[in-house]
Amino acid sequence: MAEKLLMRALRGETLDVPPAWMMRQAGRYLPEYKATRAQAGDFLSLCYNPDLAAEVTLQPIRRFGFDAAILFADILLVPQALGADLWFVTGEGPRLSTITDRVGVDALKPVDAIHDTLNPIYETVKILSRELPDDVALIGFAGAPWTVATYMIAGRGTPDQGPAHALKDGDRASFEALLDRITEATIEYLSAQIDAGAEVVKLFDSWAGSLKGDDFDAYAVAPAKRIIGALKERHPGIPVIAFPREAGQGYVGFAGRTGADCVALDNSVTPEWAAEHVQKDGCVQGNLAPGHMVTGGQALVDAVRHIRDAFSGGPHIFNLGHGITPDADPDNVALMLETLREHRG
Ligand code: CP3
Repeated sequence: MAEKLLMRALRGETLDVPPAWMMRQAGRYLPEYKATRAQAGDFLSLCYNPDLAAEVTLQPIRRFGFDAAILFADILLVPQALGADLWFVTGEGPRLSTITDRVGVDALKPVDAIHDTLNPIYETVKILSRELPDDVALIGFAGAPWTVATYMIAGRGTPDQGPAHALKDGDRASFEALLDRITEATIEYLSAQIDAGAEVVKLFDSWAGSLKGDDFDAYAVAPAKRIIGALKERHPGIPVIAFPREAGQGYVGFAGRTGADCVALDNSVTPEWAAEHVQKDGCVQGNLAPGHMVTGGQALVDAVRHIRDAFSGGPHIFNLGHGITPDADPDNVALMLETLREHRG
């Protein structure tokens, strides 16, 4: 069987048409997702129901023919598995019990205990590795420690990650103990996903951009390096995609510094800049602005061609710069793929 396009790009091959998938490709812009989610009850029940989680993972593959499927789950399942309370408020987002001091960190469960909660996720991976079409790659994922910590400390999403910065600067030892615990849990979680059949894993550091200077090195680069190193030692050859979102200059050299095989780019950087400064070191992923999936039209067609052409000199995985939003039009997703693949023989 021919090697999957996504795996070829991750090995560093330059392809005529890049493989494509979308962050949040299983989501509320799809009527079939909303129907399955209603069947499950709520978002977390959907995440922990392997049959239904596998079903929503497969929906965008069937509808659009993406080159990769991403496991349906959430980065906040790891805090929950470590003992945090987690719930989702409709229309607002996640809520968690907060961690504000050393007592909170020490009250977390030991890392070995996470599988008790996360076993259904590994079951979803197993179903998917049986049911996905032969040419579609399966991506597992986890949140990077800093991003996960921002939610565990504040108990919710925050505009500036203020509470996490306050713990970091006010009680560095407790902050680092929390980051260590999350780092170790993430290694075990991703390793179990790989054992279950994930062929690639992605580390989402959505709030990496708020770490500046030495903090970026200590809390975005170093944990990613430790996680990627441990995974590659246990699973030789496993490709890893890192997404230090809004890292700006921090994208330069990120792959080399962490051992990542591919760096995912948000849409704040131009493809020309990223081709010159990031893709020169290996595969990049991105970076269409998600808003085009709402507005469509010629601007979408032009933006897809621009990104495809700018990255055509090296290995590239086509994606959005962040997740697709619930108000997106599925027809625009189809137009995006049709435009991307217009020259495929
Ligand atoms: O990409 C995918 O399709 C795979 C599944 C996936 C989800 N979340 C499903 C989800 C992935 C990879 C994530 C990652 C995630 N989750 C991140 C990192 C990436 C990013 O977006 O920056 C973060 C920060 C979270 C935490 C989270 N989960 C938030 C802040 C929210 C609420 C915001 C929202 O969109 O409602 C979620 C909920 C969530 N995770 C949904 C989905 C499909 C929507 C839930 C629903 O159906 O109501």
